Amino acid sequence: MAMRITPSILNADLADLAGEITRIPSADGLHVDVMDNHFVPNLTLGLPVVEAIQRHTELPIDVHLMIDDADAWAPRYADLGVHTVTFHVEAARAPIRTAREIRRLGSRASMALKPATPIEPYADMLTELDMVLLMTVEPGFGGQKFLDLVLPKIRRTRELVKATGQEIWIQVDGGVSLETVERCADAGADVFVAGTAVYRADDPDEMVVALRDRAIA
Ligand code: DX5
Ligand code: ZN
Repeated sequence: MAMRITPSILNADLADLAGEITRIPSADGLHVDVMDNHFVPNLTLGLPVVEAIQRHTELPIDVHLMIDDADAWAPRYADLGVHTVTFHVEAARAPIRTAREIRRLGSRASMALKPATPIEPYADMLTELDMVLLMTVEPGFGGQKFLDLVLPKIRRTRELVKATGQEIWIQVDGGVSLETVERCADAGADVFVAGTAVYRADDPDEMVVALRDRAIA
């Protein structure tokens, strides 16, 4: 199984995004955290900034929407032509329709679950998705401690994905580091978001490579 590292720019120097992006050429994608101060108690950036980032990188952009009214907003990000649009199921009224809309507009559709949200109720809609994001911290901030309690859900999600017979990626986000990446990979994750681990490293690109190596090991 291919292991992908998609660094989060949340803890990069946000005043120098263009420069920060060039520091991780080995990354498999760029994870962009969109927050609205309603769904989560923090505010980051939105459509115009994502559009600007696109002009500065060839990396596939993976937009993680932590915003209310996901059904209305997710298609607008897909419209920009980003690689993946992830919306939170807790913020969506019609997750199946929203996933279909994202795909219709040409992006990969992904649905995120907070740590306490179970996967079982969504087993039947996995085939509508290209990726599932299992949060391994409460969404809102970088630099939090990895929640081991999510590991059984990663395992369960891998089983459910296998049962579909389709290639659906499982992404983990929050507290992913050299210490925790292996546990996530063992449980069945194959896409890893890392914010502080990458951008607080002396050499962010070296950390991307090290994380991927450890996930494969
Ligand atoms: C948190 C964001 C994450 C965050 C991860 O809500 O979704 O993408 O940047 O940061 P670390 O890797 O520091 O936990
Ligand atoms: Zn994120």
